[in-house]
Amino acid sequence: MNKNVVKIGLMGLGNIGVGTYLVLEKERETIKKNTGVDFEIVKVLEKYVDRVRPVNVPLNKFTQDPDEIFNDPEIDVVIELLGGLHPATDFMLRAMEHGKHVVTANKAAVAHSYELLRETAEKNNVMFRYEASVGGAIPVLTALTNALQANRFEGVYGILNGTTNYILTQMTDFDMSYEEALQLAKDKGFAEPDPTADVEGHDAANKLSILISLCFGERVRPAGIPTKGITKVTKEDILEAAKSGYKIKLVASAQMVDGKLEYSVKPTKLPFSHPLASVSNELNAVYVQASEAGELMFYGRGAGPLPTGSAVMGDVIEIGKAIKKNAAYDLVVAGGKRE
Ligand code: HSE
Repeated sequence: MNKNVVKIGLMGLGNIGVGTYLVLEKERETIKKNTGVDFEIVKVLEKYVDRVRPVNVPLNKFTQDPDEIFNDPEIDVVIELLGGLHPATDFMLRAMEHGKHVVTANKAAVAHSYELLRETAEKNNVMFRYEASVGGAIPVLTALTNALQANRFEGVYGILNGTTNYILTQMTDFDMSYEEALQLAKDKGFAEPDPTADVEGHDAANKLSILISLCFGERVRPAGIPTKGITKVTKEDILEAAKSGYKIKLVASAQMVDGKLEYSVKPTKLPFSHPLASVSNELNAVYVQASEAGELMFYGRGAGPLPTGSAVMGDVIEIGKAIKKNAAYDLVVAGGKRE
């Protein structure tokens, strides 16, 4: 098998699916030049074939049958971008059981079935990556688990939801109403299909649950995180806070207090001077206190098709590089010749 072309089955051609497709289409030559690996999306699981999209996906790539992806021996990597828990979680598990590496941006599914997904990947000897599930384009999971792995984490504080940060910014800086700002966030493709998950803080709680697992090795389910959204924040609250030198942000936080982990998602007054206070619109940031590295802040686009597609493809490329390396290793061991 020629592992210089890594074949991909894409599940879901919504906002993020389109973004991922576009990133690969636009950057394919650069990726190939930089990594020596070519990537091709060969099948797309999507029921709305006729929907108008800013990508031209050849009709013969579409399928409505997930088995066509699971059972295709040519497919190395499955990208799950259906969103939601069902059937996305089951599809990821089945893909792993069929020997496919899995990449997802699905924070709800990762947060709810973290152990099961990781264990199933391990059992089937496949890679499972989910960088895009927290902070969109920001490579924060990779930073926390790779570059900062010599640290203990004392606290992690995030603006983890682009939609709510966009709404609060528009209300604060442009005197916009909550409804107008929410509509704009939807139009720009930041919001979830049902924006309740954004505005009630559940999306941020999913992401915080993932960060807690990675930073503190504790498993806190999203439902176990005290969560309050922004629906009750008024323009008056925002003005009042501003008069005293504060901005209201939806902050997801987890910190060790006397050896015990405390966590929540809630609207929080941050002094203007706090690094997180300057994070505007759909931008996200994760501010961490690490035992050796000190304080760090990761900042960037936390939502939107191309930024999220960039993180998805980053994971796919890591997998492609590993596949290539192993393939090369197998060839050396076998003394064979690359096809
Ligand atoms: N609805 C999410 C947000 C998308 O607004 O941040 C990215 O996870």
